[in-house]
Amino acid sequence: MLKNLKLTLLLLAGSVLPGCGQQESDHFDLEVAKLKWSNSGMEWTEADLQLLESGESLYRSNCSVCHARDGKGDMQLGGPALDGSPFADGQKSQLIQRMLQGKKGSAMPAFADSLSDKQIAAIASYLRNAWGNRSADSVSVEEVRQLR
Ligand code: HEC
Repeated sequence: MLKNLKLTLLLLAGSVLPGCGQQESDHFDLEVAKLKWSNSGMEWTEADLQLLESGESLYRSNCSVCHARDGKGDMQLGGPALDGSPFADGQKSQLIQRMLQGKKGSAMPAFADSLSDKQIAAIASYLRNAWGNRSADSVSVEEVRQLR
């Protein structure tokens, strides 16, 4: 109960305070991450939890300007919603390729040159489990490397 309250406050602080969690931070609290990602029903490994957490901050700094922090998209910048998008929790290869190559003729940039395999894997893992998305799996560095 107390633990849940602490978590709620932490999550609230993260979403309300401007600038909080914008950068990729080294700080990683295993207990908080476990609670935060427990709703998918998955028993995440510590490595997975680290991937999800760093994916979240990378998403916020690289993608949320067009796709919004809450994944609902942005009409003006043209980024479609990724919450509930079959791109996010459907086939992994489709998601990875869209991130690496972007989409020609649209505002969606290619991230092949600016993000590492590990960073792509982290963001993809995050997208598959963020908001209402529940793939309950993660994307490995190897899976990204094979498609690059
Ligand atoms: C400058 C704006 C912009 C940024 C930054 C951006 N995107 Fe996009 N993204 C778009 C637009 C616009 C589309 C729609 C392209 C189309 O199909 O016409 C899109 C499409 C997508 C799609 C396909 C979704 C669908 O339903 O068609 C995915 C997945 C995606 N983006 C992921 C990302 C990720 C992950 C990042 C950060 C690493 C990112 N985007 C950064 C603008 C952006």
